[in-house]
Amino acid sequence: MIRDTSRPQAPRQLSTAPDARRRLSAKRQYVRFAFYTIDPAWRRLPAEQQAEQKQELLATIEGFDRRMLLRPYSLMGTRADTELLLWQIAESIEPFQELATAILSTPIGGYLRLASSYLSQTKRSIYEIRDHPDEDRERLIVSPSEAKYLFIYPFVKTRPWYQLPLAERQAMMDEHIGVGRKYPAVKLNTTYSFGLDDQEFVVAFETDEPSDFLDLVQELRETRASLYTLQDTPLYSCIRLSLAEALDALGGPKIARPSVPEDDGAEVWVEACPADLLEPGMSKLVYLKGQQVALFNADGTLYAVSNRCSHARGPLSEGEVTVTRDGCVVTCPWHHAQFDLATGAVVDGVASAPVTTYQINVVEGVIYVGTKPTDREAGRSARSHAHEAGAKL
Ligand code: FES
Repeated sequence: MIRDTSRPQAPRQLSTAPDARRRLSAKRQYVRFAFYTIDPAWRRLPAEQQAEQKQELLATIEGFDRRMLLRPYSLMGTRADTELLLWQIAESIEPFQELATAILSTPIGGYLRLASSYLSQTKRSIYEIRDHPDEDRERLIVSPSEAKYLFIYPFVKTRPWYQLPLAERQAMMDEHIGVGRKYPAVKLNTTYSFGLDDQEFVVAFETDEPSDFLDLVQELRETRASLYTLQDTPLYSCIRLSLAEALDALGGPKIARPSVPEDDGAEVWVEACPADLLEPGMSKLVYLKGQQVALFNADGTLYAVSNRCSHARGPLSEGEVTVTRDGCVVTCPWHHAQFDLATGAVVDGVASAPVTTYQINVVEGVIYVGTKPTDREAGRSARSHAHEAGAKL
Protein backbone atom coordinates (compact mmCIF):
# COMPACT_ATOMS: atom_id res chain seq x y z
CA MET A 1 0.00 0.00 0.00
CA ILE A 2 1.28 3.45 -0.83
CA ARG A 3 1.78 5.87 2.03
CA ASP A 4 0.34 9.23 1.21
CA THR A 5 0.80 11.83 3.90
CA SER A 6 -0.97 14.54 1.95
CA ARG A 7 -4.71 14.80 1.53
CA PRO A 8 -6.29 11.46 0.64
CA GLN A 9 -6.13 10.71 -3.02
CA ALA A 10 -6.44 7.34 -4.68
CA PRO A 11 -3.21 6.22 -6.29
CA ARG A 12 -3.57 6.27 -10.04
CA GLN A 13 -2.48 3.30 -12.03
CA LEU A 14 -0.69 4.17 -15.24
CA SER A 15 -3.41 4.04 -17.80
CA THR A 16 -1.50 4.65 -20.99
CA ALA A 17 -0.12 1.89 -23.15
CA PRO A 18 0.04 -0.89 -20.55
CA ASP A 19 0.22 -3.55 -23.24
CA ALA A 20 3.03 -1.77 -24.98
CA ARG A 21 4.88 -1.41 -21.68
CA ARG A 22 4.48 -5.09 -20.95
CA ARG A 23 5.69 -5.98 -24.44
CA LEU A 24 8.78 -3.82 -24.12
CA SER A 25 9.73 -4.89 -20.61
CA ALA A 26 8.97 -8.59 -21.08
CA LYS A 27 10.91 -8.95 -24.31
CA ARG A 28 12.87 -12.15 -24.64
CA GLN A 29 16.62 -11.94 -24.84
CA TYR A 30 19.11 -13.69 -27.09
CA VAL A 31 22.08 -15.39 -25.51
CA ARG A 32 25.37 -16.57 -26.97
CA PHE A 33 28.12 -18.54 -25.32
CA ALA A 34 31.23 -18.09 -27.49
CA PHE A 35 34.26 -20.17 -26.51
CA TYR A 36 37.61 -19.16 -27.99
CA THR A 37 40.99 -20.82 -28.08
CA ILE A 38 44.28 -19.19 -29.02
CA ASP A 39 46.90 -20.47 -31.40
CA PRO A 40 50.12 -21.31 -29.46
CA ALA A 41 52.00 -19.33 -32.15
CA TRP A 42 50.62 -16.15 -30.53
CA ARG A 43 52.49 -16.95 -27.33
CA ARG A 44 55.76 -16.79 -29.23
CA LEU A 45 55.19 -13.20 -30.39
CA PRO A 46 57.25 -10.40 -28.77
CA ALA A 47 55.78 -9.38 -25.42
CA GLU A 48 55.15 -5.81 -26.55
CA GLN A 49 53.10 -7.05 -29.50
CA GLN A 50 51.11 -9.41 -27.28
CA ALA A 51 50.24 -6.57 -24.90
CA GLU A 52 49.24 -4.24 -27.76
CA GLN A 53 47.04 -6.91 -29.31
CA LYS A 54 45.31 -7.68 -26.03
CA GLN A 55 44.66 -3.97 -25.45
CA GLU A 56 43.17 -3.68 -28.91
CA LEU A 57 40.93 -6.69 -28.36
CA LEU A 58 39.89 -5.32 -24.97
CA ALA A 59 38.88 -1.97 -26.51
CA THR A 60 37.04 -3.72 -29.34
CA ILE A 61 34.97 -5.86 -26.99
CA GLU A 62 34.30 -2.97 -24.61
CA GLY A 63 33.04 -0.97 -27.58
CA PHE A 64 29.99 -3.27 -27.58
CA ASP A 65 28.99 -2.23 -24.05
CA ARG A 66 25.89 -0.46 -25.24
CA ARG A 67 24.74 -3.28 -27.47
CA MET A 68 24.87 -6.21 -25.07
CA LEU A 69 25.64 -7.46 -21.61
CA LEU A 70 28.93 -9.36 -21.82
CA ARG A 71 30.53 -11.47 -19.11
CA PRO A 72 34.05 -12.84 -19.70
CA TYR A 73 35.29 -16.09 -18.14
CA SER A 74 38.54 -18.03 -18.31
CA LEU A 75 38.79 -21.77 -18.89
CA MET A 76 42.56 -21.89 -18.57
CA GLY A 77 43.24 -24.86 -16.36
CA THR A 78 39.75 -26.34 -16.58
CA ARG A 79 39.49 -27.58 -20.18
CA ALA A 80 41.91 -28.61 -22.90
CA ASP A 81 40.05 -27.28 -25.91
CA THR A 82 39.08 -23.71 -25.02
CA GLU A 83 40.47 -20.90 -22.90
CA LEU A 84 38.08 -17.96 -23.04
CA LEU A 85 34.30 -17.61 -22.82
CA LEU A 86 32.41 -14.50 -23.79
CA TRP A 87 28.86 -14.88 -22.42
CA GLN A 88 26.76 -12.43 -24.40
CA ILE A 89 23.17 -11.30 -23.81
CA ALA A 90 21.42 -8.98 -26.24
CA GLU A 91 18.02 -7.92 -27.48
CA SER A 92 18.69 -9.24 -31.01
CA ILE A 93 21.09 -11.60 -32.77
CA GLU A 94 22.89 -8.96 -34.85
CA PRO A 95 25.22 -7.69 -32.10
CA PHE A 96 26.62 -11.22 -31.76
CA GLN A 97 27.51 -11.31 -35.45
CA GLU A 98 29.00 -7.81 -35.32
CA LEU A 99 31.08 -8.57 -32.24
CA ALA A 100 32.34 -11.86 -33.72
CA THR A 101 33.45 -10.03 -36.87
CA ALA A 102 35.05 -7.23 -34.86
CA ILE A 103 37.01 -9.69 -32.69
CA LEU A 104 38.34 -11.66 -35.64
CA SER A 105 39.26 -8.40 -37.41
CA THR A 106 41.72 -7.40 -34.69
CA PRO A 107 45.40 -8.42 -34.96
CA ILE A 108 44.96 -11.06 -32.24
CA GLY A 109 41.88 -12.29 -34.11
CA GLY A 110 44.22 -14.02 -36.55
CA TYR A 111 45.29 -16.25 -33.68
CA LEU A 112 41.87 -16.79 -32.11
CA ARG A 113 39.70 -19.71 -33.10
CA LEU A 114 36.07 -20.15 -32.12
CA ALA A 115 36.22 -23.53 -30.38
CA SER A 116 32.44 -23.74 -29.87
CA SER A 117 29.40 -21.53 -29.84
CA TYR A 118 25.88 -21.94 -28.47
CA LEU A 119 23.01 -19.66 -29.42
CA SER A 120 19.80 -19.56 -27.39
CA GLN A 121 16.94 -17.38 -26.25
CA THR A 122 15.12 -16.79 -22.99
CA LYS A 123 11.61 -18.18 -22.64
CA ARG A 124 9.09 -18.90 -19.94
CA SER A 125 9.02 -22.57 -18.99
CA ILE A 126 5.99 -24.65 -19.94
CA TYR A 127 6.33 -26.32 -16.53
CA GLU A 128 4.91 -24.80 -13.41
CA ILE A 129 7.32 -23.84 -10.67
CA ARG A 130 4.78 -24.63 -7.98
CA ASP A 131 6.16 -23.10 -4.81
CA HIS A 132 7.82 -20.13 -6.54
CA PRO A 133 5.44 -19.06 -9.35
CA ASP A 134 7.18 -15.69 -9.73
CA GLU A 135 10.55 -17.31 -10.36
CA ASP A 136 9.56 -18.02 -13.91
CA ARG A 137 9.38 -14.31 -14.70
CA GLU A 138 13.12 -14.03 -14.33
CA ARG A 139 13.63 -16.46 -17.16
CA LEU A 140 12.97 -13.74 -19.73
CA ILE A 141 15.83 -11.61 -18.48
CA VAL A 142 19.24 -13.09 -17.91
CA SER A 143 20.85 -11.49 -14.91
CA PRO A 144 24.30 -12.91 -14.22
CA SER A 145 25.22 -12.84 -10.55
CA GLU A 146 28.58 -12.06 -9.01
CA ALA A 147 29.32 -15.79 -8.61
CA LYS A 148 32.90 -16.86 -9.19
CA TYR A 149 32.14 -19.94 -11.28
CA LEU A 150 29.90 -20.75 -14.21
CA PHE A 151 29.18 -24.29 -15.40
CA ILE A 152 27.62 -24.65 -18.84
CA TYR A 153 26.44 -27.46 -21.04
CA PRO A 154 24.23 -27.89 -24.10
CA PHE A 155 21.26 -30.09 -23.31
CA VAL A 156 19.05 -32.37 -25.43
CA LYS A 157 16.11 -34.45 -24.22
CA THR A 158 15.09 -37.72 -25.87
CA ARG A 159 12.15 -37.56 -28.30
CA PRO A 160 10.08 -39.96 -26.12
CA TRP A 161 10.17 -37.24 -23.41
CA TYR A 162 8.09 -34.97 -25.60
CA GLN A 163 5.54 -37.76 -26.19
CA LEU A 164 4.79 -38.11 -22.49
CA PRO A 165 1.63 -36.44 -21.18
CA LEU A 166 2.36 -32.99 -19.82
CA ALA A 167 1.15 -33.97 -16.35
CA GLU A 168 3.67 -36.81 -16.26
CA ARG A 169 6.48 -34.50 -17.33
CA GLN A 170 5.37 -31.93 -14.76
CA ALA A 171 5.57 -34.57 -12.01
CA MET A 172 9.12 -35.44 -13.06
CA MET A 173 10.03 -31.77 -13.25
CA ASP A 174 8.64 -31.26 -9.73
CA GLU A 175 11.08 -33.91 -8.52
CA HIS A 176 13.90 -32.33 -10.53
CA ILE A 177 13.13 -28.83 -9.17
CA GLY A 178 12.92 -30.25 -5.66
CA VAL A 179 16.49 -31.51 -5.90
CA GLY A 180 17.63 -28.11 -7.18
CA ARG A 181 16.03 -26.41 -4.16
CA LYS A 182 18.39 -28.37 -1.91
CA TYR A 183 21.30 -26.39 -3.40
CA PRO A 184 20.35 -22.71 -3.03
CA ALA A 185 23.94 -21.61 -3.64
CA VAL A 186 23.63 -22.78 -7.24
CA LYS A 187 21.71 -20.45 -9.57
CA LEU A 188 20.40 -21.93 -12.81
CA ASN A 189 20.02 -20.02 -16.08
CA THR A 190 18.11 -22.06 -18.65
CA THR A 191 17.83 -20.76 -22.20
CA TYR A 192 16.17 -22.33 -25.24
CA SER A 193 17.76 -23.23 -28.57
CA PHE A 194 15.02 -25.16 -30.44
CA GLY A 195 15.49 -24.27 -34.09
CA LEU A 196 18.19 -21.70 -33.31
CA ASP A 197 21.07 -24.08 -32.76
CA ASP A 198 21.87 -27.81 -32.59
CA GLN A 199 20.97 -28.31 -28.92
CA GLU A 200 17.53 -27.85 -27.35
CA PHE A 201 18.67 -25.90 -24.28
CA VAL A 202 21.79 -24.31 -22.88
CA VAL A 203 22.01 -24.52 -19.12
CA ALA A 204 24.39 -22.32 -17.19
CA PHE A 205 24.83 -22.71 -13.43
CA GLU A 206 26.40 -19.93 -11.37
CA THR A 207 27.87 -20.63 -7.95
CA ASP A 208 30.74 -19.83 -5.62
CA GLU A 209 30.82 -23.48 -4.53
CA PRO A 210 31.85 -25.94 -7.28
CA SER A 211 31.33 -28.83 -4.85
CA ASP A 212 27.66 -27.86 -4.50
CA PHE A 213 27.29 -28.03 -8.25
CA LEU A 214 28.99 -31.42 -8.38
CA ASP A 215 26.67 -32.80 -5.68
CA LEU A 216 23.63 -31.33 -7.43
CA VAL A 217 24.50 -32.91 -10.78
CA GLN A 218 25.19 -36.26 -9.16
CA GLU A 219 21.88 -36.18 -7.31
CA LEU A 220 19.98 -35.18 -10.44
CA ARG A 221 21.20 -38.38 -12.10
CA GLU A 222 18.92 -40.28 -9.73
CA THR A 223 15.77 -38.44 -10.78
CA ARG A 224 13.32 -39.97 -13.24
CA ALA A 225 13.68 -37.06 -15.68
CA SER A 226 17.34 -38.00 -16.09
CA LEU A 227 16.25 -41.13 -18.00
CA TYR A 228 15.14 -38.83 -20.79
CA THR A 229 18.43 -36.96 -21.19
CA LEU A 230 19.99 -37.56 -24.59
CA GLN A 231 22.96 -35.19 -24.32
CA ASP A 232 24.41 -33.02 -21.57
CA THR A 233 28.02 -32.62 -22.66
CA PRO A 234 30.47 -31.02 -23.22
CA LEU A 235 30.55 -29.41 -19.82
CA TYR A 236 32.46 -26.15 -19.51
CA SER A 237 33.80 -25.09 -16.10
CA CYS A 238 34.43 -21.36 -16.27
CA ILE A 239 36.08 -18.92 -13.87
CA ARG A 240 34.77 -15.39 -13.74
CA LEU A 241 37.38 -12.66 -14.31
CA SER A 242 37.40 -9.13 -15.63
CA LEU A 243 37.89 -8.96 -19.38
CA ALA A 244 41.50 -7.77 -19.02
CA GLU A 245 42.22 -10.58 -16.55
CA ALA A 246 40.63 -13.17 -18.84
CA LEU A 247 42.84 -11.94 -21.71
CA ASP A 248 45.87 -12.01 -19.41
CA ALA A 249 45.06 -15.64 -18.63
CA LEU A 250 45.75 -16.39 -22.30
CA GLY A 251 49.38 -15.46 -21.73
CA GLY A 252 51.74 -12.55 -22.47
CA PRO A 253 52.41 -9.49 -20.32
CA LYS A 254 49.62 -8.38 -18.02
CA ILE A 255 47.31 -5.60 -19.14
CA ALA A 256 44.88 -5.85 -16.21
CA ARG A 257 45.54 -3.11 -13.70
CA PRO A 258 45.63 -4.67 -10.26
CA SER A 259 43.59 -3.12 -7.48
CA VAL A 260 41.86 -0.63 -9.72
CA PRO A 261 38.34 -0.45 -8.43
CA GLU A 262 35.67 -1.14 -11.04
CA ASP A 263 33.94 2.09 -10.13
CA ASP A 264 36.48 4.88 -10.28
CA GLY A 265 33.88 7.52 -9.54
CA ALA A 266 33.74 8.87 -13.07
CA GLU A 267 30.33 9.38 -14.59
CA VAL A 268 29.36 6.93 -17.29
CA TRP A 269 26.47 7.47 -19.69
CA VAL A 270 24.82 5.05 -22.10
CA GLU A 271 22.30 5.62 -24.83
CA ALA A 272 19.00 4.01 -23.82
CA CYS A 273 16.63 4.60 -26.73
CA PRO A 274 14.96 7.33 -28.80
CA ALA A 275 12.61 9.24 -26.50
CA ASP A 276 9.62 8.75 -28.78
CA LEU A 277 9.90 4.96 -28.44
CA LEU A 278 9.47 5.10 -24.68
CA GLU A 279 5.88 6.23 -24.47
CA PRO A 280 4.18 7.11 -21.19
CA GLY A 281 3.51 3.91 -19.29
CA MET A 282 6.43 2.04 -20.84
CA SER A 283 9.61 0.72 -19.28
CA LYS A 284 12.90 -0.46 -20.72
CA LEU A 285 15.87 -2.45 -19.54
CA VAL A 286 19.24 -0.73 -20.07
CA TYR A 287 22.73 -2.03 -19.35
CA LEU A 288 25.11 0.40 -17.67
CA LYS A 289 28.58 -0.71 -16.55
CA GLY A 290 27.37 -4.30 -16.46
CA GLN A 291 24.39 -3.43 -14.26
CA GLN A 292 20.74 -3.68 -15.25
CA VAL A 293 18.89 -0.39 -15.06
CA ALA A 294 15.10 -0.10 -15.31
CA LEU A 295 14.07 3.03 -17.21
CA PHE A 296 10.47 4.21 -16.83
CA ASN A 297 8.34 6.83 -18.51
CA ALA A 298 5.67 7.61 -15.93
CA ASP A 299 3.24 10.04 -17.52
CA GLY A 300 6.00 11.97 -19.24
CA THR A 301 8.51 11.89 -16.40
CA LEU A 302 11.54 9.64 -16.76
CA TYR A 303 13.00 7.62 -13.92
CA ALA A 304 15.90 5.17 -13.83
CA VAL A 305 16.55 2.77 -10.96
CA SER A 306 18.39 -0.51 -10.53
CA ASN A 307 16.40 -3.26 -12.21
CA ARG A 308 17.17 -5.64 -9.36
CA CYS A 309 14.87 -5.38 -6.36
CA SER A 310 16.90 -5.12 -3.15
CA HIS A 311 14.80 -7.90 -1.58
CA ALA A 312 15.51 -10.90 -3.83
CA ARG A 313 16.50 -9.40 -7.18
CA GLY A 314 13.03 -9.29 -8.73
CA PRO A 315 12.97 -7.42 -12.09
CA LEU A 316 11.59 -3.95 -11.34
CA SER A 317 11.28 -3.13 -15.04
CA GLU A 318 8.39 -5.60 -15.05
CA GLY A 319 6.74 -4.01 -12.02
CA GLU A 320 3.60 -1.88 -12.00
CA VAL A 321 4.15 1.87 -11.71
CA THR A 322 1.73 3.93 -9.67
CA VAL A 323 1.55 7.70 -9.91
CA THR A 324 0.45 9.66 -6.88
CA ARG A 325 0.39 13.40 -6.29
CA ASP A 326 3.65 12.95 -4.36
CA GLY A 327 5.54 11.02 -6.98
CA CYS A 328 5.90 7.63 -8.58
CA VAL A 329 6.21 4.20 -7.04
CA VAL A 330 7.15 0.90 -8.66
CA THR A 331 5.90 -2.37 -7.20
CA CYS A 332 8.22 -5.36 -7.51
CA PRO A 333 6.42 -8.12 -9.43
CA TRP A 334 7.79 -10.85 -7.16
CA HIS A 335 6.91 -10.05 -3.57
CA HIS A 336 5.40 -6.58 -4.02
CA ALA A 337 7.96 -4.39 -2.29
CA GLN A 338 7.47 -0.77 -3.35
CA PHE A 339 10.14 1.79 -4.20
CA ASP A 340 10.02 5.52 -4.79
CA LEU A 341 11.27 5.96 -8.36
CA ALA A 342 12.84 9.36 -7.70
CA THR A 343 14.87 8.38 -4.62
CA GLY A 344 14.99 4.59 -4.73
CA ALA A 345 13.74 4.51 -1.12
CA VAL A 346 11.57 1.67 0.14
CA VAL A 347 7.98 2.88 0.39
CA ASP A 348 6.35 -0.32 1.55
CA GLY A 349 6.74 -4.10 1.63
CA VAL A 350 9.36 -6.67 2.45
CA ALA A 351 12.46 -4.89 1.13
CA SER A 352 14.63 -3.13 3.67
CA ALA A 353 17.27 -1.51 1.47
CA PRO A 354 16.76 1.16 -1.19
CA VAL A 355 17.58 0.60 -4.84
CA THR A 356 20.16 2.66 -6.71
CA THR A 357 18.88 5.53 -8.82
CA TYR A 358 20.52 6.79 -11.98
CA GLN A 359 20.75 10.08 -13.87
CA ILE A 360 18.80 10.71 -17.03
CA ASN A 361 19.50 13.10 -19.87
CA VAL A 362 17.63 13.64 -23.13
CA VAL A 363 19.73 14.99 -25.95
CA GLU A 364 18.32 15.57 -29.43
CA GLY A 365 15.47 13.17 -28.84
CA VAL A 366 17.62 10.39 -27.40
CA ILE A 367 17.43 9.24 -23.77
CA TYR A 368 20.72 8.68 -21.97
CA VAL A 369 21.12 6.98 -18.60
CA GLY A 370 24.13 7.72 -16.43
CA THR A 371 25.73 6.75 -13.16
CA LYS A 372 25.50 9.15 -10.24
CA PRO A 373 28.68 11.13 -9.73
CA THR A 374 30.69 10.69 -6.57
CA ASP A 375 30.65 13.59 -4.09
CA ARG A 376 33.97 14.69 -5.51
CA GLU A 377 32.55 14.67 -9.02
CA ALA A 378 29.31 16.30 -7.92
CA GLY A 379 31.19 19.31 -6.68
CA ARG A 380 32.53 20.13 -10.08
CA SER A 381 29.85 18.73 -12.31
CA ALA A 382 27.11 21.22 -13.01
CA ARG A 383 25.59 18.73 -15.37
CA SER A 384 24.89 16.23 -12.64
CA HIS A 385 22.43 18.54 -10.91
CA ALA A 386 20.46 19.14 -14.07
CA HIS A 387 19.70 15.54 -14.82
CA GLU A 388 18.65 13.79 -11.66
CA ALA A 389 16.14 10.97 -11.97
CA GLY A 390 12.70 12.35 -12.64
CA ALA A 391 13.67 14.21 -15.81
CA LYS A 392 10.74 15.65 -17.72
CA LEU A 393 10.47 14.72 -21.35
S1 FES B 1 12.21 -9.65 -5.05
FE1 FES B 1 10.98 -9.80 -3.29
S2 FES B 1 9.95 -7.92 -3.26
FE2 FES B 1 11.21 -7.78 -4.95
